[in-house]
Amino acid sequence: MADRILVFDLMGTLLDVGKLEIPPGICLPDETLFKDVWRRKQLEYSWLSTIMESRSSFWEMTLKALDYVADALSLTISPTDRKRLMQSWLNVPVFPEVPVGLKRIKIRRAILTNADIAMAREMVNNASLHTFFDKLFSAEEVGKFKPAKEVYSIVAEHYGISMEQTILVSSNAWDVQGAIMAGMKAVYVNRSGIPQEKISGTIAQELSSIKELADNIGTWATG
Ligand code: LAC
Repeated sequence: MADRILVFDLMGTLLDVGKLEIPPGICLPDETLFKDVWRRKQLEYSWLSTIMESRSSFWEMTLKALDYVADALSLTISPTDRKRLMQSWLNVPVFPEVPVGLKRIKIRRAILTNADIAMAREMVNNASLHTFFDKLFSAEEVGKFKPAKEVYSIVAEHYGISMEQTILVSSNAWDVQGAIMAGMKAVYVNRSGIPQEKISGTIAQELSSIKELADNIGTWATG
């Protein structure tokens, strides 16, 4: 098992983006809708920038997505609150079961995220997750975002191993499919039981938590 690496997605998998905190004093008519549209647009802009080859930063895409959601929901957000909302991304809370589960997984672990290096580092440190991982990889290194194949290759290239020896663990179904298309194995942590994407390949396993991943690790990681 020593030559295999578990590669964790960050936002949505280790960190609970649904719990992104809206700073005090910012009143939103529908907080859930606001956060949902913001996250969707953030991802959409990152994918568009990859397709259009515009080498954007994830931070910038998140900021532009915030401006979009403000427009879409007819909200006026002051420059100060815009900054405060953006800062919330640096403090997204960890899923409570994650540290406990990670402690029990003995395979080498890394993070692969679309967040820019500085942004990702801060998110991981603020969530006290840094001690669990060997390395933090960011899509910024290739100037494209997941699910572009080049991003998934960073890990295998870094460790000098084959793509099949790298196993993505993600709660983002599109990320899971991107990893499979790139030649990785992939585990889908499907906490809320949403349907699997209908494109692409077969996942190694579907689980409902990182705790369950720890419980089942022996059943598939050696295969
Ligand atoms: C990540 C987001 C996009 O890569 O899930 O962390």
